[in-house]
Formats: sequence, C-alpha cells, structure tokens
Amino acid sequence: MKRHDERYFGSYGGRYIPEVLRPAFEELERAWESARSDEAFWLEFERLCGDYIGRPTPLYPAGNLSRDLGGIRVYLKLEGLAHTGAHKINNALGQALLAKRMGKKRVIAETGAGQHGLATAAVAARFGLECEVFMGEVDMARQHPNVFAMRTFGATVTPVHDGSRTLTDAVNAALKNWTERIADTHYVLGSALGPHPYPGMVARFQSVIGIETRRQIMEREGRLPDAIYACVGGGSNSIGIFGAFLADDVSLVGVEAGGSGSEAGMHAVRMGGKARVGVVQAYKSYFLQDGDGSLLPTHSVSAGLDYAGIGPQLASLGDSKRIRFIEASDEEAISALRRTARAEGILPALESAHALAGLFREAGSLDKGRLVVVNVSGRGDKDLFITAPILERSDWMAFLERELDSLRTQALAEASLGQARVKRPRLDGEPS
Ligand SMILES: Cc1ncc(COP(=O)(O)O)c(C=O)c1O
Repeated sequence: MKRHDERYFGSYGGRYIPEVLRPAFEELERAWESARSDEAFWLEFERLCGDYIGRPTPLYPAGNLSRDLGGIRVYLKLEGLAHTGAHKINNALGQALLAKRMGKKRVIAETGAGQHGLATAAVAARFGLECEVFMGEVDMARQHPNVFAMRTFGATVTPVHDGSRTLTDAVNAALKNWTERIADTHYVLGSALGPHPYPGMVARFQSVIGIETRRQIMEREGRLPDAIYACVGGGSNSIGIFGAFLADDVSLVGVEAGGSGSEAGMHAVRMGGKARVGVVQAYKSYFLQDGDGSLLPTHSVSAGLDYAGIGPQLASLGDSKRIRFIEASDEEAISALRRTARAEGILPALESAHALAGLFREAGSLDKGRLVVVNVSGRGDKDLFITAPILERSDWMAFLERELDSLRTQALAEASLGQARVKRPRLDGEPS
C-alpha cells in the first residue's frame, strides 16, 4: 500500500490492467521505486543529459517576436535542440537506464509523430537494446522520414492497422506486444499517461525542462515568468515545464489541437468540454468517446497531438483550474509556424506551433512587459513533408516528381549495368 495515493491525481490515473500484465507492472514499480531514490541513477541520468542529449537546451529571448507582439517579452525554451529534435529523448533516456537496471534486453515503444519512436530507437542503439516501435499506418505515411531514421538506428517499425491507425492504436498494439514478451522487454511509454507508475515517472524525467527554465529565467530576469504556454498531446512536454511552477503565481496555459473543426473526428480537444471521463488504456482520465464509451477518431495536422486521451495529472490540474486549456486550429498552427520561422529563424515542430499559436492569439490581452515562456517542444524538420505541401504545394510536387524521375532513371541504369552506383553496405547477418 506504500505510496498508494501516488497512483492517482485527484480521481484520475490508477492502474486498470489485465492480470497478465500485473507481473510486468509490479517489476517496473519496484525498479522505479529503487531508482528514484538512488543518487547514482540520477547522476548517470544528468551526465547523459549533458553528454548525449546536449542539455541544457537554450532559453532564447525572442526579441523580434516580442516586438511584433507589442511589447510582451517572449522567451522560447528550445527543446528542439535536444538530440533527435524534441523533448521526447529526456524520457526515453530515463526509461532506457531503467530497462538496463531491470536487466531487460529489448524495448518497445508506441509513436505518433515518430519523435518518441526516434528517441527510443536512438537510446536503444546507444545502450545495445533491441527495439521495436509500433506506429499507426496513417502516422507511418505522414511521418515517413522519422520511420527511415528509426530504422537507421536499427529499430523495427511495425505498422498498426487497427482503429484510426494513429497514436491511440499504437499504444494498444504496444501493450498487447508487452503481454507476449514480459520477461525480456520493457515498454518505454512516451507520454505522461497510461497506468501507474508511467504518468509520474515520465513527468519526473521530463521535469528537467521546467527545472532548467526556472534557473535560466531567474539568471536572466531575476524573476519568474508571468505565463508559460505548452502544447498538449498526452501531456509530457507540458507537465515537464509546468511542474517546476505549479506552486508559483505563474499562469500555465495548455494548448490542445483544435484541428479543422469542432465536430467529432476533426480535432483532439479533450479539456474543452467535449471529452468524457472514462477508463481507457488502463488509466482513468478524459477521453474523446461516443455514448457507448468507444473512442472517437481524432484529427490534427500534427501527429503528436492527435490522441484521444490526456495524462491524468493534466486532467486533474485542468479540473482545479491550475492549468487553463485553450485550443489552436490546424490553420493557426501553420500560420504560427511561418511567423516564428520568419521572425526568429526558428522552425518549430507542428506540435510546438500550437503553443506559439496559443500565445499569438492571446498576446493582445497581455500587458506590456509581461514575461512569457513558450515551450518549443520540437523542431520542424520532421514535418517538412506536411508543411511544404501546405505552404508551397506546386513547387513541392514538382520537386518530388523530379526526385522520383531521377531515382527511377538511376534504378533502370543500374539494372541494365547490373550494379549500383553507390553500393549499399551489407547489413550484419546479411549473406554476401
Ligand atoms: C515535438 C512534439 N511536441 C509535443 C508532442 C506531444 O506530446 P506530449 O504532449 O507528450 O508532449 C509530441 C508528440 O509526439 C512531439 O513530437
């Protein structure tokens, strides 16, 4: 019964797992309990945060945006400069260390935008762990560059064909796979959600964002910010930055994906009154569900915000009004991305562009001189195949056609010569 209350955030959270997963969760909970109070574990985590991830990430004073927005003072926490391009690596690193501690040889993960899969594949390579990433077929198609990158790191990427073929279904597939390989596998869950101990554990690994931000803003300004904006998918980058300011007089704003409309299937807004409390994927929170409790389809231009549930701590902090939730549409996110790129020469991930859009929408009502931090959770290179067709469709189509033509011509020439121009190195175990 020790720490039993930690399983819940208000009435949300818990651990509603099938019997077959009980041994895995009990083993994980024991390992986490011992690691979290082990100084050596955290020293190793901190060392690798510096050496491998490149932390601390900068807190950048965005002077041009500040001027454009009429005199509020904007700082951007640039998590996109972390290794693999987003905050996801903070958690993946922590859980990989835990997997090693438990003697596991294999890790699995779910991924939506591909950033968590990429981060898990990278740390798996770093620690010599076998890695399989489950990814909805739809997300695999829209985030193909990340699929390629995961495979380059040696991971297997397994397509999920069920349901809406996005993140929610990938979580189900990963949980199912875990039941079949409990003995040698650790499931690296990618956001601050799921059954206990994941929400608290992921939030702890991501708390490095808020701890750094607090130190950096105090060093620069000698005071705390007035407001912090972060996008909210499952909730890991938001609770990661908000966590260090929960007890302070700092306004915390979570920005959800308003998508392309307010009807079911066109957005992923859980905290705006459209979701219902339920137990889904073995934890209790707000989920977008129909009258029978089945999950509704979701939509966002950003794969990482396209999820039907929300982490239990955020659900509770939303109910208590400690976090205020707003939404940004696909269109607003794209426009915020372009504005940030042009003003500061910084290309945010589509997910992070929602946080920026949230600020841009509200900036007019903020007093001059107000100090605002936006968590730019990732960088936008991964989204090129989504943003380019939106911003420059015909040029992009012409580029892709040229690329395809040249690849086809090259393949034909190689076939007739019987050899490739650039030889692909043989992979381990591949026959010569
Ligand atoms: C760059 C980026 N930001 C935000 C998110 C949303 O996840 P979370 O709410 O867990 O931070 C994702 C998810 O893939 C992401 O890749």
